[in-house]
Amino acid sequence: MSKPLEGIKIIDFTHVQAGPACTQLLAWFGADVIKVERPGAGDVTRSQLRHVKDADALYFTMLNSNKRSLTLNTKTPQGKEVLEKLIAESDVMVENFGPGALDRMGFTWEHIQSLNPGMILASVKGFSDGHHYEDLKVYENVAQCAGGAASTTGFWDGPPTVSAAALGDSNTGMHLAIGILTALHQKNKTGTGQKVAVSMQDSVLNLCRVKLRDQQRLDALGYLEEYPQYPHGSFSDVVPRGGNAGGGGQPGWVLKCKGWETDPNAYIYFTIQGHAWAPICKALGKPEWIDDPEYNTAEARQDKIFDIFNFIESWLSTKTKFEAVDILRKFDIPCSPVLSMKEIANDPSLRESGTIVEVDHPKIGKYLTVGSPIKFSDMKVEVKASPLLGEHTDEVLQQLGYSAEQIAEMHAAQAV
Ligand code: COA
Repeated sequence: MSKPLEGIKIIDFTHVQAGPACTQLLAWFGADVIKVERPGAGDVTRSQLRHVKDADALYFTMLNSNKRSLTLNTKTPQGKEVLEKLIAESDVMVENFGPGALDRMGFTWEHIQSLNPGMILASVKGFSDGHHYEDLKVYENVAQCAGGAASTTGFWDGPPTVSAAALGDSNTGMHLAIGILTALHQKNKTGTGQKVAVSMQDSVLNLCRVKLRDQQRLDALGYLEEYPQYPHGSFSDVVPRGGNAGGGGQPGWVLKCKGWETDPNAYIYFTIQGHAWAPICKALGKPEWIDDPEYNTAEARQDKIFDIFNFIESWLSTKTKFEAVDILRKFDIPCSPVLSMKEIANDPSLRESGTIVEVDHPKIGKYLTVGSPIKFSDMKVEVKASPLLGEHTDEVLQQLGYSAEQIAEMHAAQAV
């Protein structure tokens, strides 16, 4: 069965994580993604944190599956000529170089448009065009600090903290993929391409929307009722770090289970949904709390919410996180075990759904990766190995019309 993006040709001029995550997703969905890499070294992630000597690192393989690799020195005349030919016959070019790098290489938007008016040029930068930090180079954690995630994550008595989730990198790539698909849809109607730009700061902030909500509530009220600082602590004039508090109207916290003293992940997340108060009391063996006016409304529980969590922890002390969730799920209580990466890697449901997949790589052997989190009724996403550096150079050049002699000359001139 044909894949939805079959026939779409994408020049993947990306590196590290934000750009590659975007183009990998489009490759899974059927686009022909040609990764353009500097001869010799390629994407820097090929060699970062290797676990098999001289083989591509997992950082690279897990973000570049289903692509082809073309090595090309785009600073040589021959390399520029190849890139120009590719641009002329492609639909999308994706890049996430430092600010101005593409222009310095001679590939300004005007030049790209003159080569192909239908081209969609999709870029990731740290900050948006015109921003007072637009000249800055940016990595994941820098973006988390600039986008409001770090100042609002962690505990109130600790420093700003970054999340392990790639809010600045892969999240920005996902935003870019949405932008590209939107521009492709528009191109189907108008025939013309356009520039699509996403900044890492904006993408992080987009996920910190509720914290901007909280800043405005704090400005208006002077307190935030769902934060652990309320009602016994104090607030300043900025949104504080709230530890593990839930961000909505349902109080929640990470609670210890049996074995927490030795297992760093023997915890569950427990949510007290207002309308589930009665089932919670039944599950905990506290039926007397159901109608007690000291407990039976969210307002009444507010000032003793940590006493309630403490009580739940004593109930949990005889149960593993999995046993606890198996009991609580029967009472319709939103909860989950805190899963380690090892537990996730071995989770049969995630294997079954294709969210965790095993891939065979010619140099590193079998490894696990995260497959498509998006499921389709009419398409099964197949995750294939990432390409070796320059694996498809000759194939791509032949398809562009170069003869064997011309290709050999380019190799000799180190243009490819
Ligand atoms: N042939 C020849 N030159 C190439 C090339 C190729 N195939 N591919 C890249 N280059 C050159 C670029 O032209 C640039 O040269 P220049 O600086 O002389 O103009 C250089 O290699 C690489 O530039 P840059 O992207 O700035 O690399 P860096 O390692 O200094 O910075 C980042 C890395 C990620 C910090 C930077 O690219 C960046 O800020 N990107 C935007 C935000 C982003 O995506 N961050 C990473 C998220 S995972």
